[in-house]
Amino acid sequence: MSSAPLKVAVTGAAGQIGYSLLFRLASGALTNGRPIELRLLEITPALKALEGVVMELDDCAFPSLAGVEIGDDAEKIFDGVNLALLVGARPRGPGMERGDLLSANGAIFTAQGKALNAVAADDVRIGVTGNPANTNALIAHKNAPDIPAERFSALTRLDHNRAISQLAAKTGAPVTDITKMTIWGNHSATQYPDLFHAEVAGKNAAETVGDQDWLENTFIPTVAKRGAAIIEARGSSSAASAASATVDAARDWLFGSAEGDWVSMAVVSDGSYGVPEGLVSSFPVTTKDGDWSIVQGLDIDDFSRARIDASVAELADERDAVTELGLI
Ligand code: NAD
Ligand code: LMR
Repeated sequence: MSSAPLKVAVTGAAGQIGYSLLFRLASGALTNGRPIELRLLEITPALKALEGVVMELDDCAFPSLAGVEIGDDAEKIFDGVNLALLVGARPRGPGMERGDLLSANGAIFTAQGKALNAVAADDVRIGVTGNPANTNALIAHKNAPDIPAERFSALTRLDHNRAISQLAAKTGAPVTDITKMTIWGNHSATQYPDLFHAEVAGKNAAETVGDQDWLENTFIPTVAKRGAAIIEARGSSSAASAASATVDAARDWLFGSAEGDWVSMAVVSDGSYGVPEGLVSSFPVTTKDGDWSIVQGLDIDDFSRARIDASVAELADERDAVTELGLI
């Protein structure tokens, strides 16, 4: 592995997620000791607050933090970056769905897609956390024609981690015994967390649970609506868990998923599992050396098919909406 610093851009760096994410990145959670250089993008009014966050980063004296640059000019901040974590976007409030943010946030991702296209490193990977994450990733991808489509992904790792945690609580198994979890579709209330292919200590999860009512009426809605439950309880959207999932997703993407397991990532569909080509939809993927590949050959029964189709239909509607807004 190269010992040159990995250049990582984070947008919305002065926000809630940024306040957790930057310290995880700087402490080496992503690169396992390899030096990291942070490039932090904010809007002009938030730069002063960001300066305060940088003072705190300095005060941690992190051995792996090789440098920090901040600014409000995407082309300067993204110059030569190997990884861009696009977090900066407005979060939803109580009573909103993530799709309600499309017009408010979509334009951010046209500008950032163009800037990445112009100045990012040839090996750049782009992970989108800002909501609605799947369609924002689609917008960034469509505005960056020189960057290969497979370099874009949207975060469904938080949903994946939530699903693991719920299943562990139900079965009494440690989270480390839970493998092959899949989130299909959109990072929204229509997402489909799939227990039919997941395993608990190597045994099929749906069979181990043996409770279709729990699976359908407790597990799926708890995972799919967890973001709203946190907004309701905390008064603002998930931040530390979102930052943690952003690190998990980027680490696995760059350095590889565990042998014999897979992870969930929303990636540009190649048509696998009947998901129309070009939509940014969550799939089970394995990752190695910065590349992902969709796990093939899983049997999809009628129950799963209907749920995947419903979430994918929502993604197609979101794509049509941003097409109409002139964002792609
Ligand atoms: P926040 O409001 O605390 O922070 C957002 C930051 O983005 C602000 O500091 C704002 O100034 C900045 N920003 C706005 N426009 C920008 C631009 N053009 N360039 C750079 N920065 C810009 O919000 P948060 O709680 O940190 O959440 C950020 C986003 O992440 C929201 O859209 C939220 O819904 C989303 N989110 C996604 C997941 C997921 O699992 N995919 C989980 C949690 C939150
Ligand atoms: C989450 O899943 O916690 C985030 O996407 C925030 C939200 O709006 O739900």
